[in-house]
Amino acid sequence: MALRLGDIAPDFTAQSTEGEIRFHEWLGDSWGILFSHPADFTPVCTTELGTTAKLKPEFEKRNVKVVALSVDPLPSHHEWVKDINETQGTTVNFPIIADADRKVSELYDMIHPNASENFTVRSVFVIGPDKKIKLTITYPASTGRNFNELLRVIDSLQLTANYSVATPANWQHGEEVVIAPAIKDEDIPAKFPKGHKAVKPYLRLTPQPNL
Ligand code: BEZ
Repeated sequence: MALRLGDIAPDFTAQSTEGEIRFHEWLGDSWGILFSHPADFTPVCTTELGTTAKLKPEFEKRNVKVVALSVDPLPSHHEWVKDINETQGTTVNFPIIADADRKVSELYDMIHPNASENFTVRSVFVIGPDKKIKLTITYPASTGRNFNELLRVIDSLQLTANYSVATPANWQHGEEVVIAPAIKDEDIPAKFPKGHKAVKPYLRLTPQPNL
């Protein structure tokens, strides 16, 4: 059965470009992003991994470890990394799992046979420090992912993990957030001392609480 939000991210041991990874141990107390790409030496994947490398400081700021995966073998990953570094003007600074036996891909349902029998689709799993899956996204091979959107989602997840708020459509860091419906009106002033406005009884906005 497909993994769902709130499930424990399955643990595994795998070979990567940065050595053996025992996934849960490697995550430690960090947040994690595990993302698959269809194949090495392909154009869209090359841009995705270069983009991820450039965003590493942003992931680190948020205490997020990133790991990529495809079903290509380790020597192929190592050769491809040279191309990514050359063409994307960066240095790949995160591990890429070599899942040649498809163990991890199958564990995470990353191969969708009606899309491709042989390659992983573009899956993303965001995993919290409790090892639970907080977000899943699946893109087709032909569409490169928006890694700024992943940072935005992480910001939302980390905010909502710590405060009784949710984030509205297209929310960006620094903008107003929504007070959780479970919070009673009378409890708002103590919980949200920066103030709030009630647009409707069920739509109450407050400045982002952790700024
Ligand atoms: C790519 O990464 O460019 C790609 C991979 C598989 C199919 C189509 C595009």
